[in-house]
Amino acid sequence: MLRTRLGVCGISLVNSGTNACFILLKALAAQNPGRREVVLPAYTAPSLTLPIRKAGLVPRLCEISLETFNMDPHALAKTVSPETLCVMPVHMFGLPCDMDVVRRATGNPPPFVVEDAASSLGAKFKNKETGAWGDVGVFSFNRGKNLSTLAGGCVVTDHPALFERIEAERCALPELSRSAQRRLLLKLAGLAAAVRPVGYTALYPIVRRYKYTTLHTDFESYQYPDVLAGAGISLLARAEELFELRYRNGLFLLEALENLPGVRLPRILPKTRPVFNQFPVLVEHPEARNTLIDEIARQTGVEATTLYPDPLHHIYDMGYPPDPDPFPHATVMSRQLLLIPCHPLMTEKILTRIVAVFRRIAGR
Ligand SMILES: Cc1ncc(COP(=O)(O)O)c(C=O)c1O
Repeated sequence: MLRTRLGVCGISLVNSGTNACFILLKALAAQNPGRREVVLPAYTAPSLTLPIRKAGLVPRLCEISLETFNMDPHALAKTVSPETLCVMPVHMFGLPCDMDVVRRATGNPPPFVVEDAASSLGAKFKNKETGAWGDVGVFSFNRGKNLSTLAGGCVVTDHPALFERIEAERCALPELSRSAQRRLLLKLAGLAAAVRPVGYTALYPIVRRYKYTTLHTDFESYQYPDVLAGAGISLLARAEELFELRYRNGLFLLEALENLPGVRLPRILPKTRPVFNQFPVLVEHPEARNTLIDEIARQTGVEATTLYPDPLHHIYDMGYPPDPDPFPHATVMSRQLLLIPCHPLMTEKILTRIVAVFRRIAGR
C-alpha cells in the first residue's frame, strides 16, 4: 500500500525512523568510502546524529530558514563539499521543503539526497509525496507521527541496486521476541484508548510518561514487529481522511493567527500540500511562550509544547566555534518555537479557543 502510494520500487520496514536512517547510511557509506559527511539542518531531532555517528559518518550542520522553518537552500549550497556523502533535508512539522531547490543546491559531483520525511507522511511537493523525491526517503511510525503504529519506521527508494543493499542490512537485524511483540501490542491498544478525548484528562498522568523522552545516547535496532502491521494497514486505508484533517486544522490556525503581533508563522511554499504533524509558531517573547502553554492547557485541556530546547550545535560538540553563533536561526527556533497539536481529534471549537488565547497573550 505504502509502496504504491509513494511510487517507489522498494520499502524496508524496521523498528524506528532512527534505525531506518542507520541501515540506509550504512548501505550508502559502504558503497562510497571516500565521502563521510552527512548534511542536516542545525535545528532538528537531536537523535538524528546517532545513526550518522554509528554508521561511522560525520554530521555537518546547515542553517535553517526562519521563513520556511526548514533547511535554508542558500546555506545548503555553501555547506556541501566533496566530502559530502548525502544531504538530508528534513520536512519539519510536515512542511515540505522545495525539493527542486534542494537538488540544485547539492553541487557537483552530486551527493545522495536522503529525505527525512519522519514527520511528513502524506505531505506533497508538486503533487508527489515527500520521501519519494530523494534518492532515499525515511519515515517514522513512532508515537505522535502522522500515522503511528506506536513504533516503526521505513526506508523507501526507487533505485533497485540501492534497495538491495538496504534490504541486506535490514535482513541482518534481529527480530523482536514473541513475548516482546505481545507487550508492544498491549501498549498499542492502551495508547489508542488513552489518546481519545474522552478520558484523556483522567489518563494524562500515564500518557505523559510515554510522551517525554530524555536525550538518547543510543537506539534499538531490530526488524519491524509483524504484530504492528495490522494497525499500519488499517491506518493506511484511512490515510487520506486523516491527512486532510491535519491539513485543514493547520490551515485554520494559519489563517486565524496571520498578522498577529508577536508571532511568526511558517510560509507555506507554492506547490506544496503540508500535512501538519504539529502546527509550529514562533513566539517572540519568551514569557509569552510559557504563558501561552499554561493558558492553552487551562482553557482547553490541550497541551501546546516546546520542542528541542537547543539546536544541535549547542547540544553536541561538533567542532563549531561558540562565538559568533554559526547557526543563529536554529538558535532562535529552539528558543521561540511553540507547537500546537493539529491531529485529527482536534476540533474547530478547540482550535478557536486556542486562537482566542493567542490573541489575548501573544503580543503582550
Ligand atoms: C525529523 C525526525 N527524524 C527522525 C526521527 C526519528 O524517528 P523515530 O522516533 O521513529 O526513531 C524523528 C523522531 O521524532 C524526527 O522528528
